[in-house]
Amino acid sequence: VAPLPEPAPEAAPAPETVPAPAPGYDDAEREAVLRVMRERRDIRNGFRSDPIPHEVLLRVLEAAHTAPSVGHSQPWDFVVIRSAETRQTMHELAQRQREAYAKSLPKARAKQFKELKIEAILDTPVNIVVTADPTRGGRHTLGRYTQPQMAPYSSALAVENLWLAARAEGLGVGWVSFFDEREMVRALGLPEHLEVVAYLCVGYVDEFPEEPELMQAGWSKRRPLAWVVHEETYGRRALPGEEPHDLLQETVANIRPLDAKALGEAWERQKRMTKPAGALGMLEIISAQLAGLSRMCPPPIPEPAAVAIFAGDHGVHAQGVTPWPQEVTGQMVANFLGGGAVCNAFAHQVGAEVCVVDVGVASELPATPGLLPRKVRPGTADFTTGSAMTREEVLAAIEVGIETARDLVAAGNKALLTGEMGIANTTASAALISVFTDVDPAEVTGRGTGINDETHARKVDVVRRALALHAPDPEDPIGALAAVGGLEHAALVGLILGAASLRTPVILDGVSTGAAALVARAIAPESLAACIAGHRSAEPGHVAALNKLGLRPLVDLDLRLGEGTGALLALPLVQSAARAMHEVATFDSAGVTEK
Ligand SMILES: Cc1cc2nc3c(=O)[nH]c(=O)nc-3n(C[C@H](O)[C@H](O)[C@H](O)COP(=O)(O)O)c2cc1C
Repeated sequence: VAPLPEPAPEAAPAPETVPAPAPGYDDAEREAVLRVMRERRDIRNGFRSDPIPHEVLLRVLEAAHTAPSVGHSQPWDFVVIRSAETRQTMHELAQRQREAYAKSLPKARAKQFKELKIEAILDTPVNIVVTADPTRGGRHTLGRYTQPQMAPYSSALAVENLWLAARAEGLGVGWVSFFDEREMVRALGLPEHLEVVAYLCVGYVDEFPEEPELMQAGWSKRRPLAWVVHEETYGRRALPGEEPHDLLQETVANIRPLDAKALGEAWERQKRMTKPAGALGMLEIISAQLAGLSRMCPPPIPEPAAVAIFAGDHGVHAQGVTPWPQEVTGQMVANFLGGGAVCNAFAHQVGAEVCVVDVGVASELPATPGLLPRKVRPGTADFTTGSAMTREEVLAAIEVGIETARDLVAAGNKALLTGEMGIANTTASAALISVFTDVDPAEVTGRGTGINDETHARKVDVVRRALALHAPDPEDPIGALAAVGGLEHAALVGLILGAASLRTPVILDGVSTGAAALVARAIAPESLAACIAGHRSAEPGHVAALNKLGLRPLVDLDLRLGEGTGALLALPLVQSAARAMHEVATFDSAGVTEK
């Protein structure tokens, strides 16, 4: 019997080898990829008529055709247009849309837009139409099942590929979206089932600008990456490797005093301008403030400007502090959006944009162009029986204000104006003003929209009771807002802080903004450096607030409306102050003898 073979010795465990990840590109190649992305530009100016060789255009189209697509459906087609006649037709269509858009703009924007070129259809030898076929790939295209828009998204990716490849070839591309899409399908004789994703003007160029043309024209600003990267949940902003930062803290940390050098230059310039020293009174102070704020002398003219109107409701309405029903808040928001309110008329007159933000209207508001739906809660609670809101809600509403400031400034606005709408909000304003000025409720509680003696007495009593109940601490501004504030007050605080951190002037409106400015000052005293008091309202609390803030109002016309109306009236004064710094000659330049 043959002996059993010896059992094989146990194999020694192989050392664990994890294969290395697939390699990326080497440094030079990676830099080339990133460079083409950085240096890709949308071009409208400086195109040349040089023809594009076929092999170059082919490489560009091949790059487009390698784009990712939903379910690999490759929904794009590229129609290459060279005919002068077709381009003329398309140019005329774009021209019509341009005019329609220009008509929709506030005056200051329209003035800026007039200077902008928005297409180069006739200046380029080749136009390319990129379409999406929503039926391509059959009925069961993977991934398009729940999201039909994935087809045009895929075609948009082909556009980006085309754009980058063109840049690498030294070809400029300008995307034109000033078209009615269906009109375009017909004009180009495209099959009706196609969607047009892009109309591109392509050609060699004199140069590629370093920055977007819209930025160079002052139409828009670049948003920092740090604003848009969130860790884990929306709102926890953090770049990779950073701890998530709190939006309020970050904003406050960026608020700095006026720049002493620019301020000094402004005072010097005022003295040399062809007018007696100090003859522009208060406007000299404003223009110096604008210089210190912008760190530039002369300071930029604060145009275009936008008024942000925050709307919210108030639980304290239940205490009978106003004869107006609560629904009026939502109804007036609809009126602002329809263009029928006083703020619209004044904004129209001074050329400002009206931006309406629902930060806490009690009713549901339908989605409407121009309305930012940012409801933190549908109205506050009645602060005579409990807190108006939680601290978290206050912070959320402040963030709404900060983000509104960021959006409006990134969109190219050079001044922000405050506005609000909220039936019963003068009661909350009075309570806040009393907390931060230490003035008795009887002296800071006004008649708001017009109330009789009996209602006024009740309103004073309501404020008194609320302050007795909560004993709000002016050293704890968030707590004070939570106790007796309104959602629009909190958002206004955010707008002021946000604008101050972006070194953008804020023109304050009436009593509710006055209350908010007191809170903003308690959070960040330097935020006042960005503030200009637009007007003095007829509300007694506003005077107390302005005195405490040390701000002198520009307009004093017994207005007591809110909606940003007083701030809007003050805007041309602020703009005039800045313009004088630009346009008024100096004694030396004009050859005028000094005193
Ligand atoms: C979807 C889309 C549509 C655009 N439409 C137009 C347009 O109609 N007219 C125009 O001048 N620029 C248009 N642009 C170009 C943008 O204004 C441009 O991309 C932006 O200002 C940033 O500049 P940059 O592309 O040079 O970085 C469009 C861009 C995209 C992505």
